[in-house]
Amino acid sequence: MADALIQRREFPQELTFLGDGAELWRAVTEDTGSTRFSRPRASDLLLEEHVPQLLGLLPPGPVPVLDLGPGTGRPAEGLLTGLLAAGRFGGYHAIDISPELLAMTAARLSRAFPAEAGRMTFTHGDFRETVPAGGARLVLLTGGTLFNAADPGLLLRHLAAHLGPGDLLVITARFDTLGRAPFRAIEAAPPLPPSHRLGLDLLNIDPDWYDPERGFDPARHEVWSGARLNRPVTLHLDGAHGRRAVDLHTGDLLRLYWQLFLDRTAVDALLHGAGLRTSLFQIGRVSDVAMIVSSSDITGTQGTNMTKR
Ligand SMILES: C[S@@+](CC[C@H](N)C(=O)[O-])C[C@H]1O[C@@H](n2cnc3c(N)ncnc32)[C@H](O)[C@@H]1O
Repeated sequence: MADALIQRREFPQELTFLGDGAELWRAVTEDTGSTRFSRPRASDLLLEEHVPQLLGLLPPGPVPVLDLGPGTGRPAEGLLTGLLAAGRFGGYHAIDISPELLAMTAARLSRAFPAEAGRMTFTHGDFRETVPAGGARLVLLTGGTLFNAADPGLLLRHLAAHLGPGDLLVITARFDTLGRAPFRAIEAAPPLPPSHRLGLDLLNIDPDWYDPERGFDPARHEVWSGARLNRPVTLHLDGAHGRRAVDLHTGDLLRLYWQLFLDRTAVDALLHGAGLRTSLFQIGRVSDVAMIVSSSDITGTQGTNMTKR
């Protein structure tokens, strides 16, 4: 936390899923039927609606699923339904940094598939540290998790190093499929959603001490929101290695949320830089939500395919 604040003026996004943040994410991804929530739902549907395409990229036989950051388990539930219907379910293992979200996934999937409880495992952990070995699996990194990472390229290189023979890395996120930015360059005083404000609340930064901003950074291809400090603030953070002071200054922008918003060419380049090769780019029901499937350049044997609904 202190390093992210001192070096990059960022609140680490993975921490926003812990504690109260888990309930905020659940609320955002809940299916309310409202169009405001259509993007998370469209992202959930990508897996379940394209099980045949995913199976077409795998060798015959049972398919193990490794879910990196399952959130509430919604996308996994749809996928598992399809794999079971096709007689191809080969077990499910989820790893999440948030014990609260992991518990939600476990509850959802145990309720949906009681007969498979013995073939599902749930591990509290950080996938930047440990990724179990395997092969011919579906390795899920869905719902924008990749593009929230502090360094998506580094995360991809780490995951690529842990992919086994025939493993497919399945990423879902918002992509720039229409060639236009989602926001203006800078929008002053926008309402920040509670999940973006969570970091400020955890740091005990009073709402009077900052002005919210959000925008789109065309150089970084990134949607972001943040807090522009209107006074100096010193934070004292207690951790395993003692107390650290973080000095923030008037005018500093504290980044709270960011998400890369790449087009197809840029995402292919990012994957390629990590030693991965695109097997499928599937646009979803909402045109800026897509699933991209890739495999290791060394182990992958599939051809490239571009599909649009
Ligand atoms: C944006 S949500 C996506 C949830 C789900 N995959 C979906 O598609 O709805 C990110 C998820 O990844 C988890 N997460 C983020 N960084 C993580 C890390 N380094 N290790 C393990 N889990 C992480 C979060 O706790 C959260 O469950």
